[in-house]
Amino acid sequence: MKSTKATIKRIKAREILDSRGNPTIEVHLELSDGATGIAAVPSGASTGKYEAVELRDEDKCRYNGLGVCKAVSNANDKIAPAIAGMIASEQAKVDQRLIELDGTANKSKLGANAILAVSLATAKAAANSANLPLYRYLGGTSARLLPVPMMNILNGGKHAADSTDIQEFMVVPTAATSFSQALQMGTEIYHSLKKAIKVKGLNTNVGDEGGFAPSLASNKQAIELILAAIDLAGYKAGNDCFIALDPAASSFYNDGKYMLSKDGLTLTSDEMIGYYARWVSSYPIISIEDGLDEDDWSGWVSLTSKLGRKIKLIGDDLYTTNLERLERGISQKASNAILIKLNQVGTLSETLATVKRAQQVGWTVIISHRSGETEDTTIADLAVAVGSGLIKTGAPCRSERVAKYNRLLAIEEELGADARFPGKEALII
Ligand code: PGA
Ligand code: ZN
Repeated sequence: MKSTKATIKRIKAREILDSRGNPTIEVHLELSDGATGIAAVPSGASTGKYEAVELRDEDKCRYNGLGVCKAVSNANDKIAPAIAGMIASEQAKVDQRLIELDGTANKSKLGANAILAVSLATAKAAANSANLPLYRYLGGTSARLLPVPMMNILNGGKHAADSTDIQEFMVVPTAATSFSQALQMGTEIYHSLKKAIKVKGLNTNVGDEGGFAPSLASNKQAIELILAAIDLAGYKAGNDCFIALDPAASSFYNDGKYMLSKDGLTLTSDEMIGYYARWVSSYPIISIEDGLDEDDWSGWVSLTSKLGRKIKLIGDDLYTTNLERLERGISQKASNAILIKLNQVGTLSETLATVKRAQQVGWTVIISHRSGETEDTTIADLAVAVGSGLIKTGAPCRSERVAKYNRLLAIEEELGADARFPGKEALII
C-alpha cells in the first residue's frame, strides 16, 4: 500500500437500508488532509454459523428488531475516539485497534458491521488521499486481473420462496476474452432464461440476487432451463460457458440428513455426494459451493477426494473467510477453493490475510457479495486488487448487483491495454 501520513479525523456512521429493506450501517470517514471514504456493509440470509456477529438492536418496535442503532453508536461513540489520529494508510494497525477494542473472538461487542464499515471507509479514505483507485491502492501496480463473473441467474433456497432447494444456479462465461464480453454473454443468457421460463408458463419474478425464481418441479429443472437459455442465446454450454452451483447445503441439512424437498429426497452425506457426482457427469458444472453442511468436515473431505480433480469445491459457510477454519480445510484437504466475504470476518486486514493464505496454497479465491447488498462497490475493487480472477455478485439485474459490474467495466476501461482477463484459466484444476 502506498502510504500517506493523513490521519483519521472524523467518523460519521448512520443507519441506511440494504436491498431487502433491512437496516445496515454506512460510515463516512474524513482524514486530516480532507480526503474522505464512504463504506456500507452488506448482510446475508443464508448466514454461516461461524460468521462474525452482525449487531442488531433486537428492538421489536423498530424494523422488526433489525435496526442497527447500537452498531451506529458504537462506531460514532466508541470506535471514532479510539482511532482518531491514527494514520489511515496503516490499515493493519487500524484494524488491530478495532479488533482489540472489541475484544471478543466474534466481534460481538461492537458488531462486525460497525467494525467493517470503519475498516473499509479507512481504506477508501486512504486511497483517496493517495489519489489512487481502491484496487490500485490495495493491490499495487500488479493489480490488473479482471474477474470472470459467476452470475447467479436462477435463485432458490433462502433467496426466493418456493423455488429450488439449491440456492444458486450460476452461469460462468469462460470463453470471453475480456470482462466486458463476459458480462455481455452472461447478460444475454440471463435474458434468454427469462424467455425459456416464460415459454414453460412459469413466473419470471426475481429473487434476492436478481436471478429468476420460478416455482420448479425439481432442482434438475433449473439446470435444464439454464442449458436451454445458453443455447437460445447462441452459446455452447461446456465450451463457451459453464454452470456453477451454490446449494448452500447448511440450509437444508437437518439431523444429519440433506433434505431436498423439491426432489422428495432425504440423503446421507455420502448419498448427497453421489447426487453431485451424477450431476457433474451429466452437466457442464464447473464448481459447487457449500455442497455440504458447514460442520460436515468428513463429508467435505470425501467430496473433495471424489470430485476435487474435476471441479472447484468452494467453502463459504464452511470457512466464513476465517483464517483458522481455512487452515483446517487446507490440512484436511476439505476443498480446493474458498469464497471470500468481508463481513463474515469483519476487517479488511483479516480478509486479505485469508485470501493470501488461500492463494499461497494454490486454492481458487472468489470474492463475493451478500444477498442483502448496498450500492457500495468495494468488492469489485477487491477482486482486482487480489487478482482473484472470479467474482460472485449476482444476476445482471437490481442496481445493487449491477453497480459492482459497472464498477468493473470502469476499472477495465481505466486499465486499458494493461487489463488482463483469465477466461477459463480462472477455473482450471
Ligand atoms: P447469503 O448468500 O449472502 O444470503 O449468505 C450468499 C451465499 O451463500 O453465497
Ligand atoms: Zn454461498
